[in-house]
Amino acid sequence: MRKPDSKMGKTGKSITRQSKHYSDMSSHEPRVSDETQPYLITREPGKAEIQHPRNGKRMPRVAINREYAVLDVKQARQICLNWLSYVNLENALGLGLPEIDDRQHFWRVPLIGKNTHERIGEVVIDAKTSLIVAGKSTTKDVLETRLLGRPNGTAGRKARRSNGTYILSSLGNTVILGDSEVELHNLPAQSVDLVFTSPPYYNARPEYSDFVDYEDYLLKIRKVIQSTHRVLAEGRFFVMNTAPVLVRRTSRNDASKRIAVPFDIHRIFVEEGFDFIDDIIWVKPEGAGWATGRGRRFAADRNPLQYKAVPVTEYVLVYRKHSDNLIDWNIRCHPKQELVKASKIPDDYERTNVWRIHPATHPKHPAVFPMDLAEKVIRYYSFIGDVILDPFAGIGTVGKSAVKLSRKFVLIEENPAYIEEIRQGCMEWLGKEAENVLFVNCEGIRDSHRLL
Ligand SMILES: C[S@@+](CC[C@H](N)C(=O)[O-])C[C@H]1O[C@@H](n2cnc3c(N)ncnc32)[C@H](O)[C@@H]1O
Repeated sequence: MRKPDSKMGKTGKSITRQSKHYSDMSSHEPRVSDETQPYLITREPGKAEIQHPRNGKRMPRVAINREYAVLDVKQARQICLNWLSYVNLENALGLGLPEIDDRQHFWRVPLIGKNTHERIGEVVIDAKTSLIVAGKSTTKDVLETRLLGRPNGTAGRKARRSNGTYILSSLGNTVILGDSEVELHNLPAQSVDLVFTSPPYYNARPEYSDFVDYEDYLLKIRKVIQSTHRVLAEGRFFVMNTAPVLVRRTSRNDASKRIAVPFDIHRIFVEEGFDFIDDIIWVKPEGAGWATGRGRRFAADRNPLQYKAVPVTEYVLVYRKHSDNLIDWNIRCHPKQELVKASKIPDDYERTNVWRIHPATHPKHPAVFPMDLAEKVIRYYSFIGDVILDPFAGIGTVGKSAVKLSRKFVLIEENPAYIEEIRQGCMEWLGKEAENVLFVNCEGIRDSHRLL
């Protein structure tokens, strides 16, 4: 906190004002920052002079006559920067040149998207009180929505690596109702740091499947992988949990068959610009696979050739978005090295690519993955503060794990019933903070589930 400059008091009457007032534009509730920055105005009647508290420069007469609290462009900018940092948008937005509207006594400060270099909105400051005018400024929600709606591949890419500098993602916790193939187009380029997901299950029986056939299913997965490539930061990881599916026989004369989904998806990843890193085998306890019925016939007859293994594993396939930079670059160039340090993994990590984890069940969703799995993936492939995306979010296991591990989440799910589970979950995981989660295409917590 800066103290008032006592030298200024010698030359005339002094006025001390608190210059860092904020208004939370999204809630319309005025707030005062815990940090104050008083400054002195020195008045000499007749001369109408003012000295800047820090550099001693003379200030415009009009500012004194009008008793402005915000005297110059620098102060207007500082108020905006403080507000941007308060609403966690300082990495996404920069400032244009503040202008004084001397009819209304407002400072107008343009907000410019750092990725797009376009004007996204403005902050209006009452020049006399230094308060942000909530009703006239662009709200936090609108800013976030506009940022999400303005992807710009090349600009984002440049910004993220300008001068070899790694810029942190500006996305906050976000829940999106909709088809991920569509919704991913609305996320800014390189705005997420890790993708962990398990795609919808392919069911070959037409009555249970959303897909015309298996090729149609793979095409859907390809489109999502393609779009995810754009939103994933350079050199970061896409981890997918998947498994072969069993297509049951339809009559006694038919044979059941298994479709090797992970291997087909592997080819798609490689074709879409990802480098293969690891095939982790998630092993479930032995009882888990018997429900599939596989291996029962052999267990009874024991004929060679009829042998069928009971599946107790799934794949956790790890890919890295292709980059000419080594992984070491992602670690060295992270701008917050204290977070890199705090993200170090303790001794009890998985040494091999065989992970033994109990499957999870949920009363409202048939195919959730266990928290333990999500937590391992998030710990091993992201830093504290990173943004983790799940484009097939289900009830939001990735979101819950991300919060637990001090990361942020972006969850996309097309089923409104699961979005409702996520909304309930947000309140449980985040408490009061849940009000700040951005809900897209659906009601936010602030609107529908106001916390007491
Ligand atoms: C295997 S589940 C994921 C469950 C999640 N891992 C969890 O723990 O809750 C796949 C989810 O993807 C959703 N889904 C399927 N197609 C989708 C699409 N095109 N866009 C968004 N979500 C989709 C389904 O509704 C389902 O909830």
